[in-house]
Amino acid sequence: MKALILSGGKGTRLRPLTYSGAKQLVPVANRPILFYCIDNIAQIGIKEVGIIISPETGREIKEAVGNGSLWNIKIQYIIQDIPGGLAHAVKVARDFLGDSPFVMYLGDNLIGGGIDRFLHDFERNSPDALILLKEVEDPKNFGVAEVSANGRLIRLIEKPDEPPSNLALVGIYIFSQNIHRAIEMIKPSKRGELEITDAIQKLIDMGFTVESFILDTWWLDTGKKDDLLTANAIVLDEWLKGSINGSVDGASKLLGRISVGKGSVIKSSTIRGPVVIGENTTIEDSFVGPYTSIGNNVRIKNSSAEHSVIMDGSELRDIERMEESLIGRRVTLLRNSRHKALRLMLGDDSVVEV
Ligand code: TTP
Repeated sequence: MKALILSGGKGTRLRPLTYSGAKQLVPVANRPILFYCIDNIAQIGIKEVGIIISPETGREIKEAVGNGSLWNIKIQYIIQDIPGGLAHAVKVARDFLGDSPFVMYLGDNLIGGGIDRFLHDFERNSPDALILLKEVEDPKNFGVAEVSANGRLIRLIEKPDEPPSNLALVGIYIFSQNIHRAIEMIKPSKRGELEITDAIQKLIDMGFTVESFILDTWWLDTGKKDDLLTANAIVLDEWLKGSINGSVDGASKLLGRISVGKGSVIKSSTIRGPVVIGENTTIEDSFVGPYTSIGNNVRIKNSSAEHSVIMDGSELRDIERMEESLIGRRVTLLRNSRHKALRLMLGDDSVVEV
């Protein structure tokens, strides 16, 4: 068994963050999303992992992930010249995959729990594809499955106007080598991509077995701001272990699970967990509320923030109340108390609510 992680793509829905970096490296609880995918793959004992990268963000991904020694796996990077779709990525990885069955994992998907139970199912029943489904409220935005009364998969439709069910296709799949035959037979979709849903549909049409598994834990596709904040909250809630490696003065109050990295300083502040704070960050005369992740080298002074992600090198000063916000790297956010006017310098596609 091999694994193929898709870490290319355009990341348009997470602009402007994705102008300057890969969306799979956006942090959730101060770790890149992609690291959680690799954790799950390494955990089931897969040693040979291919990572699809784009020419634009590939170098950054290689630098963050390295050769796999952190997870005791071997990583091969595979460049996809254009974001030609999920099935196109499999095509590009054909030499790496050979005739091996493989787990395909979208590098921006997070699920609760590991993937061992799906692998066991695949090994026991030997289907040609095992797909994961999850009930969602807005199936129109996903690949959707039509399933018969006895649970057999009838068809898959990409972003349907009239969804036949509320079962969305989760971005984790296991395939036999027959998926390559199906991919050879499909054509680009209306949006010009080779769709994995079309390839799976082709497998069904050719009479191959496609099994589905309904996921009973949470699933988040972190491609959008609100999903990312939800992922951050869930991961902090479920997995954060409190540990204080920085300094906290006597005038500060820490409540709940809080992790403070080396070299960070907390003065005259209240932190209410779950909260993760990176290294060399300073928080002074401030309140940090639940479900907040603060990166390295951040300065927060006389401010209040909760349910937010604040990335490396950013600064908040005199900000009365910030919530549900996603702040990129090296952002300066300060209140100008002398003038009532806003003075802004915002990149393309920024979103500000005042
Ligand atoms: P998507 O989120 O479907 O696509 P995207 O990254 O282009 O994002 P957006 O819709 O915001 O523009 O991709 C899912 C995952 O697969 C993501 O980690 C990127 C990756 N991917 C590839 O590696 N190659 C591709 O050709 C595509 C379309 C996606």
